[in-house]
Amino acid sequence: ADVMVPFAVHVDFQSGALTPDPVILRRSHADLAGYFVNESDAPGEDEMYAVHEIRVPATNNNLLSSTTVLQPGTVGGEYFMTKGHFHATRDRAEIYLTLSGQGLLVMALEDGTTQTKEMRPGIVNYVPGHWAHRSVNTGDVPLVFYAVYIGDAGYDYATIADQGFPVIVVEGEDGPEVVPNPRY
Ligand code: F6R
Ligand code: ZN
Repeated sequence: ADVMVPFAVHVDFQSGALTPDPVILRRSHADLAGYFVNESDAPGEDEMYAVHEIRVPATNNNLLSSTTVLQPGTVGGEYFMTKGHFHATRDRAEIYLTLSGQGLLVMALEDGTTQTKEMRPGIVNYVPGHWAHRSVNTGDVPLVFYAVYIGDAGYDYATIADQGFPVIVVEGEDGPEVVPNPRY
């Protein structure tokens, strides 16, 4: 079997930057078109979030990990959020550690059961297998978190792209409100 050489990566807790040499994936407003219930504002090429991933092979003997940097803002009253996904290998678990900012982690089973947990610096969120997960930035600065997942977890975006989560997170008079998704 291949034996890897140990290595270290520096994580900047404010910016989410990894040094050295991450794989960076950027998602613009246009990439999220169709994800928000009310999209009257035309989606532009502005960045909504970036994922900086440490390079290791995506195999079940490795741990993949990444920072996500999710910008603050709203679309039609809904806070900026990640697309959200089930893992392609459904039973693969994941851990999120929030580094800066604040938000909500929305999770759902395929039968529509929902859980929502707070994200703030120092909180570890455990996402068991079978739970789809989406991060929502409810603050006014970037939400930055570090995620660790089994290398062969993979991504299944299609289910969420089609029907969304059972709940959405909207800006209310007294802060964020978790309300039923009218399109679910
Ligand atoms: C990996 C994971 C995170 C997300 C990232 C972006 O399993 O959950 O690294 O991939 O926060 O969110 P998505 O992938 O939903 O666009
Ligand atoms: Zn995941």
